[in-house]
Amino acid sequence: MNLNSPDPQSEKSSGAAPLVALRGVSRIHDGGAIAALRNVDLEIEAGDCVAIVGASGSGKSSLVNLLCGIDYPSAGAVLWNGQPVRGQAAWARLRRASIGIVFQEFNLIPTLTALENVELALFGHGLSSRRRLGRASILLDRVGLEPRMHSRVTTLSGGERQRVAIARAIANEPTLLLADEPTGSLDSANAALVAELLFKLREHPKMTIVLVTHNEALAARCPRLVRIKDGSIVEDVRNAIVAAPMACESAS
Ligand SMILES: Nc1ncnc2c1ncn2[C@@H]1O[C@H](COP(=O)(O)OP(=O)(O)OP(=O)(O)O)[C@@H](O)[C@H]1O
Ligand SMILES: [Mg+2]
Repeated sequence: MNLNSPDPQSEKSSGAAPLVALRGVSRIHDGGAIAALRNVDLEIEAGDCVAIVGASGSGKSSLVNLLCGIDYPSAGAVLWNGQPVRGQAAWARLRRASIGIVFQEFNLIPTLTALENVELALFGHGLSSRRRLGRASILLDRVGLEPRMHSRVTTLSGGERQRVAIARAIANEPTLLLADEPTGSLDSANAALVAELLFKLREHPKMTIVLVTHNEALAARCPRLVRIKDGSIVEDVRNAIVAAPMACESAS
């Protein structure tokens, strides 16, 4: 979204380059004792919808954290539209302009209302308070929470909080939406609602989605599935999309 001057890296496109790519990426902890990721190569094209699956501790969150610059590789490079992204400031600009993130534990500010939480994502774009609040209320309407927008988030259910988090994540119309077990803390009914919402968002033509999940039914609804084991990609396949809304049997 052109809420402000676009980030040069987000706009720079070298034609055939994937939206985001990992090239020979490793992430080592504790002086080499732990390899969260080992020499991973991954390309994600604009508009793709990728499920990342794997056992607990296999490296899924590590991968997502590298895709948005919350963490950095020990070796290898992360490329955005074919260009290496280097340094905190470049990543911060990219996140502000082009990346939305949804976490399992919502990561909302508990003392603020739903509206204020979403509004936070709209600071720094040169919008007046009135425009920020107007846009935040439209976003909350989009996730079905307009009636609760003035409620403090601690008074909302888990599913409602996750919908606030999704509204916040899409506030700047990100090119890339990263969701790390977004239904992992929800009961099955709310997990299904949140999953439906995420897939509906995909209808936005420019939204690329990377979805970490333990829920195979949810993963099967993504056109592409990447499986990680012990820090390495062991499977990368294209699925047939399941069109019907899923009866989400469990959390992610
Ligand atoms: N900051 C860190 N310091 C040390 N080890 C870490 C750190 N971050 C991750 N790890 C380790 O790296 C491995 C991969 O962790 P990661 O969080 O990516 O797994 P995951 O696949 O997301 O697991 P889960 O499904 O339980 O969320 C694990 O063994 C984890 O303990
Ligand atoms: Mg994880």
